[in-house]
Amino acid sequence: MYTESTVTTKTNKHDRPIAVFDSGVGGISILRELKKLMPHEDFIYYGDCANAPYGTKSVDEIERLTLSASKHLYEKDIKCLVIACNTATAVCISKLREIYTDIPIIGVEPALKPAVNAKPGGNIIVMATPVTLHQEKFISLLSKYGEHSKIVMLPCPGIVELIESGETEGENIEKRVRELFAPFDVMKLDAVVLGCTHYPFIKSTVLRVIGKNAVLFDGGEGTARETLKQLIIYGYERSPSQTADGEVVFINSSPTKDTSFMQKLYLAQ
Ligand code: DGL
Repeated sequence: MYTESTVTTKTNKHDRPIAVFDSGVGGISILRELKKLMPHEDFIYYGDCANAPYGTKSVDEIERLTLSASKHLYEKDIKCLVIACNTATAVCISKLREIYTDIPIIGVEPALKPAVNAKPGGNIIVMATPVTLHQEKFISLLSKYGEHSKIVMLPCPGIVELIESGETEGENIEKRVRELFAPFDVMKLDAVVLGCTHYPFIKSTVLRVIGKNAVLFDGGEGTARETLKQLIIYGYERSPSQTADGEVVFINSSPTKDTSFMQKLYLAQ
């Protein structure tokens, strides 16, 4: 693994890295799926930990921060940008696609479609940031897939802050998750959608709180598949015959935090 200073410019599009962006460490859950599907690609992971959480900020502020980080990444000669953040995707993916027309820009959205398909007519809870749940993008997803199911939106402020401070399990996370699910009869739940890329890191706690009846869904695998599909459409994918493992470079926008927690999450089983 490398740090920002080791990123070098490559002229051939195939050889360039794929950039993955999130407000903090959450997008590493997407990076792991990307790497699983495309081990021979190079990745630059950018976590805006200096400004996390995004999910409780104003839409204007989220857009400003996302555009600024995306510009920083685009200037590194990337061949694709993955917005591994449901909140930033909901706020400004269209704007990013208007600005950067020569590379695929992939977003992530709460995995409502797979949850509804797997549990038709079921009781489904969507955990996400307050901003994601209020955006037009999520509202139209809900009207497209939510018609025949009982879907409850569960904004989860506080969870991202705990994960960013290094807690992915333990007393504080469990207490917060129990508070959030307290109003519900968890025995009647069929599915829970992890609609924020930070939440897959607290999967075991969520499962302990909701019990074994409900199934968890997240957007990681679908986003990785979509990224590969777009790379093929653009003709930018690296040949799978290139068997050597690609590099992963981590960048943390926070001057007071290094990238060791990012690497720990990336390598966790
Ligand atoms: N990980 C992000 C998401 O998927 C944002 C969390 C935050 O910064 O509030 O929504």
